[in-house]
Amino acid sequence: MVTLERMWTESFRPRNLDEVVGQTEIVERLKQFVRRVDFPHMLFSGPPGVGKTTCAEAIVNEIYPPSERSSNVKRLNASDDRGINVVRQDIKNFARIIPSGSSSYKIIILDEADQMTSDAQHALRQTMERYNEITRFILICNYSSRIISPIQSRCAIFRFTGLSIDDIKSRLKYIAKKKQLQIDEEALNALYESSEGDLRQAINALQASASLTPEITVEVVYKVQGYVKPTEVRAAIMECLGSQPNFSAARKHIQILMESYGLSGQDLVKHLNRELGKMPEDEIPESVRFSALSMLSEVDYRIATGSNPQVQLDAFLAKMISVAQKQV
Ligand SMILES: Nc1ncnc2c1ncn2[C@@H]1O[C@H](COP(=O)(O)OP(=O)(O)OP(=O)(O)O)[C@@H](O)[C@H]1O
Ligand SMILES: [Mg+2]
Repeated sequence: MVTLERMWTESFRPRNLDEVVGQTEIVERLKQFVRRVDFPHMLFSGPPGVGKTTCAEAIVNEIYPPSERSSNVKRLNASDDRGINVVRQDIKNFARIIPSGSSSYKIIILDEADQMTSDAQHALRQTMERYNEITRFILICNYSSRIISPIQSRCAIFRFTGLSIDDIKSRLKYIAKKKQLQIDEEALNALYESSEGDLRQAINALQASASLTPEITVEVVYKVQGYVKPTEVRAAIMECLGSQPNFSAARKHIQILMESYGLSGQDLVKHLNRELGKMPEDEIPESVRFSALSMLSEVDYRIATGSNPQVQLDAFLAKMISVAQKQV
């Protein structure tokens, strides 16, 4: 019988604020709010997988004893399929109930609040005001700019940011230890690189790697992610630079990348873009980097509008060689 293992993102979701990695200033401010009896409405904004829902749940855990949680907390999603009218009704119905037990407030956690139309947000603002004595909102969104300013001005705003390499690695190491995995630094770095600061994505990739082997190396990570090795992309670029460029070697690298990883022309543009942006100055003169990036954006546009990717990428390599030659 196949048993499905629980998602590690859920089983390793921090239960309290102390366990949250990174977001240091936010966590400190939240701890101060939690210690007080009174606290304001809150607005959490920021990219995916960085701890917004986690912090909202941690607050709930810190404020209410387990027996009072279900009656005092409501979780809603503004992009709910049932439609915003149902959500609005749910919000109103819950907001007006008197808190139960020892608590002075109930909490409504409204996720994806930036998906609400401006009309719905104005209605929400009225509800926030009307039941302010007994209900606190935690609004969660990716973009705070999409929340109307009368709501923003009534909330303490917390801007979450992508997690740093140290934060992501420390959480991955912690989980790896609990799961009795062996994982080396290079593999941890690769997990961070592809996650772009999103810890949910990094943990999912760790779990996928662990399903292959408990000894996780960078090769395993690349394998599960169909991830392109940065060095292979860089090799293609390097062939175009210096005093002895080699067009056919660069072209060969590009072809191998497309075939072995099944990349589309636009995927490849993205990888080239990332490497060109990251290569150190002693490997690529700044002026060549700038020209190459600008040419690449044209290639991207042309492929998107239907040009042949191979022709476009060949032209890109040829132009990069010609720009680099002027520097030599
Ligand atoms: N700062 C963090 N500290 C510890 N674990 C985290 C942190 N951020 C994310 N995680 C892990 O990633 C998972 C997803 O995080 P969370 O649900 O908080 O993301 P989010 O910021 O709400 O993202 P989204 O915008 O996609 O809803 C959590 O269950 C947890 O395992
Ligand atoms: Mg969330």
